[in-house]
Amino acid sequence: MAVTAVVGLQWGDEAKGKIVDLLTDQHEIVVRYLGGNNAGHTVVCNGQTYKLSLLPSGILRDSVVSVIATGVVINPKALLEELDSLSRQGVEPGRLLISDRAHVIFPYHLAEEAALERRRGEKAIGTTMRGIGTCYRDKAGRTHAIRMGDMMRPELFRERLEDVVAQKNDILRALVPDHEPLQAAAIYDEYMQYAERLRPMVTDTTAFLHHALKQNSSMLFEAAQGSLLDIDHGTFPYVTSSNSSGCGIHPGSGVPERVIEKMIGVVKAYTTRVGGGPCPTELEDETGQHIRDEGNEYGTVTGRPRRCGWFDAVATGYGARISGVDCLAVMLLDVLSKLDELKICEAYEIDGERTTDFPSHIDELARAKPVYRTLPGWKKDITGVRKLSDLPSAARAYIDCVGELVGAPVEIVSVGPDREQTVRG
Ligand code: IMP
Repeated sequence: MAVTAVVGLQWGDEAKGKIVDLLTDQHEIVVRYLGGNNAGHTVVCNGQTYKLSLLPSGILRDSVVSVIATGVVINPKALLEELDSLSRQGVEPGRLLISDRAHVIFPYHLAEEAALERRRGEKAIGTTMRGIGTCYRDKAGRTHAIRMGDMMRPELFRERLEDVVAQKNDILRALVPDHEPLQAAAIYDEYMQYAERLRPMVTDTTAFLHHALKQNSSMLFEAAQGSLLDIDHGTFPYVTSSNSSGCGIHPGSGVPERVIEKMIGVVKAYTTRVGGGPCPTELEDETGQHIRDEGNEYGTVTGRPRRCGWFDAVATGYGARISGVDCLAVMLLDVLSKLDELKICEAYEIDGERTTDFPSHIDELARAKPVYRTLPGWKKDITGVRKLSDLPSAARAYIDCVGELVGAPVEIVSVGPDREQTVRG
């Protein structure tokens, strides 16, 4: 495989980390190109569990070059803590390159986000509180933005930080009257320590990727979050602040999408969502709780219980179309093994009209009533299955229905967290 991309087609947490991990040994370079430490990837390998947030999953293999590209927002403290934690687990990380164009998260981003979310009250977006949206806001606004490349230039960085922190204190005072002013000098000293540790890794990753393409190096693009959380195409405003669908690869890495030979869309066999916003197939009953328990559906980053529901082919099909996927990987199928019957949402009914189009406004999405196709359960342990033909016929029928309604062939099915627990066509 030369250039491959892995994207989530739902609201994140589709277990993309496992697919990326399976594919990393076929690629020389693994690129993370959006989001920040709001993402959580769990990779289980040789019985060890690794929790990754900012680091590309390629970091677990010393033969792979991992790239944190331009579109990522970086909290340097969190990044260094993640590297330290891996080294405590005995992982000798491969080479890591960090884009000098990537924007940096500072303490004022977290303070601003906390104040803004508090103000929204019941309408809070339910963010991960990692300063992601406020950092991307500054990137778009430009006047308060600081990039990794700035942090590598001590004098320029000091000047810039003093100016930005003074303005941020004014903004924060307006939002929170008893706000304790942030001290630019203290932030500068702290961040200069991070800068010195990160300096050997910070580079022009776009140029590196372009050279690698010229030499026909194999490359894997690893998305974070899911297509329905995309800032432009997702369930706005209950989205993240970057292009988390396949659309984000070009702006986030500088690599044009036309070089991607295979775009793999990762879906869970059911639906989950964390944070606010409509979720038409959500089950606020015993079945929803059963899925949550069986799938251990609690956030990797925040520990929040995830909202769970039936597979939504309208939402996922839309995610697949905006991302332009070639095939699907259906994850966590084993979680559904104990249920007598299963439902898949094949259409919405909105104000009495049936549609398979995903609404562009959450006002309509909130009124969408799922139209379900009911399928029999398989009621068998499938965690030991390794071949598609060995899956119970009801499980195969379920997978076929997912592929047909989403509009892409299912090439991989996951029946457990371990690398080995993977079924291929
Ligand atoms: P933010 O990305 O922290 O600004 O959060 C915005 C929305 O995206 C919230 O609903 C979060 O729960 C959601 N979100 C962000 N990252 C992830 C993720 O990795 N998985 C699932 N949801 C996420």
